[in-house]
Amino acid sequence: MTVPAVPVPPRVAVIGAGTMGHGIAYVAAIAGCRVALYDSSADALADAQHRVESLAATGLQRGKITEGDRAALHQRMRFVKDLDDAVMDADVVVEAIVERLNTKQMLFAAVERQAPKEALFATNTSSLSVGQIAAAVREPARLIGLHFFNPVHVMRLVEIVLHGRTTSDTVSRAIAFARQLGKEPIVVQDSPGFASSRLGVVLGLEAMRMLEQGVASAEDIDTAMELGYNHPMGPLKLTDLVGLDVRLAIAEYLHQQLRMPHYAPPQILKDKVAKGELGRKTGKGFYTWSD
Ligand code: NAI
Repeated sequence: MTVPAVPVPPRVAVIGAGTMGHGIAYVAAIAGCRVALYDSSADALADAQHRVESLAATGLQRGKITEGDRAALHQRMRFVKDLDDAVMDADVVVEAIVERLNTKQMLFAAVERQAPKEALFATNTSSLSVGQIAAAVREPARLIGLHFFNPVHVMRLVEIVLHGRTTSDTVSRAIAFARQLGKEPIVVQDSPGFASSRLGVVLGLEAMRMLEQGVASAEDIDTAMELGYNHPMGPLKLTDLVGLDVRLAIAEYLHQQLRMPHYAPPQILKDKVAKGELGRKTGKGFYTWSD
């Protein structure tokens, strides 16, 4: 399939207005794209509108955007209650809905019925197979993984995930789009955990095993990575921020998919999750949090 280049700046439809979707929509609009943000829940859409306003207010306060950017943001963004309306003139459709394969497949099948033939389709899935999602559309070559990181307006990385039927045109368009949003793309094959989780999770799990074995304290293990390897945050502190339950689910998934012993969740992780010590969100994980 010949796919025309993404116009600059592209018209973007973001589907799913939650944690990731509102952030992707904000970043795209600030980058100059016209953005339609859609969610099947009216409440989620209303929440997203507040969250976008608050991102803009903070951005302005911190000098990240200008008053002109904020005014342009209002011109460029639409909060849309109808899927067809959101996608019908889109150059790029970014999906950021619930992490469930058949829901994403059904969504893309519906999107394909209304979106322009040349539109690029991207899924923000963090763990599902992009190839399986693409199997639900008639033109799987146009669908790719665009894995943004949370919070989207801060994190520079985007993983571009290829599956067996991705064409080089689609890859080039996805790379160009990620760069238009000010992100740094890396290209990864459709493999469990992509690059970021597969590497990041193993570091976190090994840090937990070291803690279990009494090799060093949580603080000292984290300091080893912060000062010895220039990581901005040690793996145990990072696990506290992500949530121990979230990390456990990813470890179980990677262990089941990759069948490598280093993904087996350590007992300390299972015990803490069972006790409700989920990290910062519950006030206790590997550290005690007061905020
Ligand atoms: P979320 O739960 O905050 O938001 C999902 C939104 O999708 C909700 O507002 C929900 O109403 C909406 N939704 C569900 N089904 C829908 C449908 N059929 N049509 C339209 N809207 C629908 O989820 P979050 O965290 O934003 O995650 C979205 C995607 O991004 C998932 O695939 C997740 O794995 C991925 N992701 C999440 C990250 C995170 O840190 N939260 C990081 C990177 C990727």
